[in-house]
Amino acid sequence: MYMISRRGFIQLSAAASIAGCMPLNGAQNRLPTRLIPGTNEALPIIGLGNSSVFRENNLDPTRRLIDILMEHGGAYVDCGGSSRFSVARVVGERNAMDDTFLGMYFDLDNEVAARKIITELRDIQGATSLDLIQTRMIQGIATHGDILRRWKDDGLTRYIGIARSGKQFYAPMMKLMEARSIDFIQVNYSMLEPEAEERLLPLAMDKGIAIVINRPFINGEYFSVVRGHELPAWADEFDCASWAQFSLKFILSHPAVNCVLTETSNPTHAVDNLGAGFGRLPDEKTRQRMRTHLLNL
Ligand SMILES: NC(=O)c1ccc[n+]([C@@H]2O[C@H](COP(=O)([O-])OP(=O)(O)OC[C@H]3O[C@@H](n4cnc5c(N)ncnc54)[C@H](OP(=O)(O)O)[C@@H]3O)[C@@H](O)[C@H]2O)c1
Repeated sequence: MYMISRRGFIQLSAAASIAGCMPLNGAQNRLPTRLIPGTNEALPIIGLGNSSVFRENNLDPTRRLIDILMEHGGAYVDCGGSSRFSVARVVGERNAMDDTFLGMYFDLDNEVAARKIITELRDIQGATSLDLIQTRMIQGIATHGDILRRWKDDGLTRYIGIARSGKQFYAPMMKLMEARSIDFIQVNYSMLEPEAEERLLPLAMDKGIAIVINRPFINGEYFSVVRGHELPAWADEFDCASWAQFSLKFILSHPAVNCVLTETSNPTHAVDNLGAGFGRLPDEKTRQRMRTHLLNL
């Protein structure tokens, strides 16, 4: 599909694109990328969340969403449970293991069973190792963390991480970040759930940990706040065309953020969401204006 692989492309282009959100020269239809800290590999800045359509037996909706993502130069797909298999199958069919970046969820309480699934998923994708294995089991991480590191050392995955949402998880997440024992943190952050910006996001920048953001629309609740309201005219100043993009551009304008995950089952919404990765981002003054505007709707 591509002249060079996404991974090769993003490595070449990452340094040039990290500062902003403008597409690169010659790549106007491709999402900008940001470097995974400590590496020369970069991620396109918008990904797909673990959509309910990935779980259906019929693979067509999964194909449609992944094709839309890739057509826009996106790579990250978050997937857990049976979704891992649908997503891996589509990536395998498309021969797109180098052009995608799959963040897969695993429980750590049965290592033998998990290793078997990892091997199956690698084979389905045609990959030598998974991209990112992440766990939601943060409470047990002190006892289970060694498993993640062993999987990485054994070459089963290139990166390991913790993925949760909720401020009750920030303190244990920050402990892991201080110890630099993981590569990725996935956490909630948006104008209506801003708490991660107090300590967690600055710490990520300080320690060089990749940050992926979940719940950009608070699982849809954000749209009940903005529904019935016109987008302010000044949203044009940062190339924002929809309320979805209003939230995503706010998130992407935080310098700690590598990638934001957007969950949808609707291809039109997927295109809207990916559109937030193009054009200008709000500056600090505009971010404050956005926040005030949203809280006063
Ligand atoms: N590890 C964890 O503990 C954890 C926790 C939460 C989330 N996550 C990850 O983060 C991802 C996103 O978070 P989330 O589940 O809270 O979902 P979200 O992306 O905040 O919101 C999804 C909702 O927004 C709607 N939507 C999406 N794009 C839209 C658009 N352009 N216009 C109008 N409506 C739109 C969707 O409906 P339609 O389907 O109709 O578009 C859906 O109802 C998840 O899929 C998952 O991968 C991880």
